[in-house]
Order: sequence, then structure tokens, then C-alpha cells
Amino acid sequence: MKILLIYATNSGGTFVSSRIIKDVLGKKHSVVVKKAVETKPKDLAKYRLIIFGSPSWDFDGKEGQPHETMQALMNKLKKKKYKKKLFAVYGCGDSSFTHFCGAVDELEKFVGGLDGTLTIPSLRMDEFFYHLEKNKESVKKWAKQLDTVLKKI
Ligand SMILES: Cc1cc2nc3c(=O)[nH]c(=O)nc-3n(C[C@H](O)[C@H](O)[C@H](O)COP(=O)(O)O)c2cc1C
Repeated sequence: MKILLIYATNSGGTFVSSRIIKDVLGKKHSVVVKKAVETKPKDLAKYRLIIFGSPSWDFDGKEGQPHETMQALMNKLKKKKYKKKLFAVYGCGDSSFTHFCGAVDELEKFVGGLDGTLTIPSLRMDEFFYHLEKNKESVKKWAKQLDTVLKKI
């Protein structure tokens, strides 16, 4: 399956996670990883599964928002419909904030608005670099779970 992983990051946690996901899914699938800022709406066309990864941040005076480059891409895509595409969402956050991994919630709503199908429950990671081994394990497990679901599709 052709998979496009679109991510944004500030301190690198979401990027490190993208490499792990690519390593796991890349064994059986063709996985392209792109920064949100470098992604154009037409880039989504040839992929069956789109994975969005974003940290949660303040944006426009609101907490728990996707990275600003992810927001910019979401704005460009929001009127599109992707009934036949599969989606998955993951994010890095910090549970000391009011809206823990709020970006993941926003991205889930966004996928709903596109008429896309969320393939598996989203992954929310707490304080990525403080719990590095645990988070690396959880992202690996999540990618394997996604791989298992893709086998049935
Ligand atoms: C200014 C600022 C605002 C943040 N807001 C939130 C938030 O609303 N919710 C949350 O879960 N984490 C929040 N975080 C934590 C980051 O999402 C977390 O550090 C994440 O691991 C960053 O991912 P990255 O390494 O990919 O940039 C915030 C961090 C900063 C510095």
C-alpha cells in the first residue's frame, strides 16, 4: 500500500516517531514521509493511507492546537473529500497542559470533515524525550497495530 506520513515538529519528537513508523510499515509498504510545510494538497492524491503527526501547541490564542504548518495544510485541505482514503493520527504532547494532545483531537475532527476513515485509534504520547524508551516502544507498537489492520484491508 502507498502511505504518506505528513508531520510537523518543534523539538523533534514527532519527527523521531515518524522514522519509527516508517521503519515498521516500510517493511511491507511504500512509505513517504513529508513535512507538512512541504506538502501540497495534490500530493495526497496517489496515497491510500495518510498519517498525520503533530505536536500540540498554542495557536491563535488557543491551547492544544496542531503545529502552525499543519494548520496551514489543514486549511488548504478542508474543503476536500477523501471518502476512499484511510487515515491515522498520532501526536506528541504534555499532560501538564489542559488539552493533552489537543492537536490529535483536532486532526481527528478534521479527518471526519474530509469524510476520511480513521483506521485505528490515535496515538497520544506524553513528554516524548522524558520517557524516550517508553514512547519509542509505544510508537512501534502502534505502527505494528496499524500494519495488522492494513493486512485485512
Ligand atoms: C508553548 C507550548 C505549548 C504547548 N501546548 C501543549 C498543549 O496544549 N497540549 C499538550 O498536550 N502539549 C503541549 N505542549 C507540549 C508539546 O506538545 C510537547 O513538548 C511535544 O512533545 C512537542 O513535540 P515535538 O517534539 O514534535 O515538537 C506545549 C509546549 C509548548 C512549549
